[in-house]
Amino acid sequence: MRVVNRGRFITLEGMEGAGKTSRLADLQAFLQQRGKTVLATREPGGTALGEKLRALLLAPEHGPMTPLTELLLMFAARSEHVQQVILPALDAGQWVLCDRYVDASYAYQGAGRGLGNAPVAALEALLPSQAHPDLTLLLDLPVESGLARAKRRGAADRFEQETSGFHQRVREAYLSRARQRPQRYCLIDAALSPFEVSAAIERAVGRLL
Ligand code: TYD
Repeated sequence: MRVVNRGRFITLEGMEGAGKTSRLADLQAFLQQRGKTVLATREPGGTALGEKLRALLLAPEHGPMTPLTELLLMFAARSEHVQQVILPALDAGQWVLCDRYVDASYAYQGAGRGLGNAPVAALEALLPSQAHPDLTLLLDLPVESGLARAKRRGAADRFEQETSGFHQRVREAYLSRARQRPQRYCLIDAALSPFEVSAAIERAVGRLL
């Protein structure tokens, strides 16, 4: 049962180069203007330990990591993040906006790396049930345009360096998860202008206000 003043938990997911980080900043401002206290955070990361794990996970020099190691490190960072940051903020009535969360592990490690859903689901089951997102915004974009945008931002990280086949599997997994969970997911066309994307996000989030 939801505690009366508990905040809302919103996650942003999507393709590389879809503009999640900028749209998350817009959403934070939108909610703050409506009087909400907002915590913006990201995965992997969001805690001191999690940011160290993020650096390990993204650095190209750690290239060939086994997919299971990668998944376990994502969940090590996540466990810390959920316990130390996300749940305390929700319990204090804050709205938590998280740049990527468990769905990314299904898309990247489950589908992209080919581990399948079962190991991801087994780890997800270890998280507290209160750490389930109220809304997931999926910023969808064709793989090639997303990778081209990401490339313009600078040196590619370990995931951005992956093949377009890898990113195609990631995209299909996200789209299929969104189709299977229409109550929680809102699919957003990230090829639209930043203004239009933020407007679509505000319409979806407005329903939670
Ligand atoms: P990303 O969110 O794209 O940040 P930036 O905008 O700074 O590039 O980077 C995080 C990367 O981590 C992204 O490529 C997806 C990957 N990732 C996973 O593979 N599994 C996960 O569970 C999470 C949270 C992220």
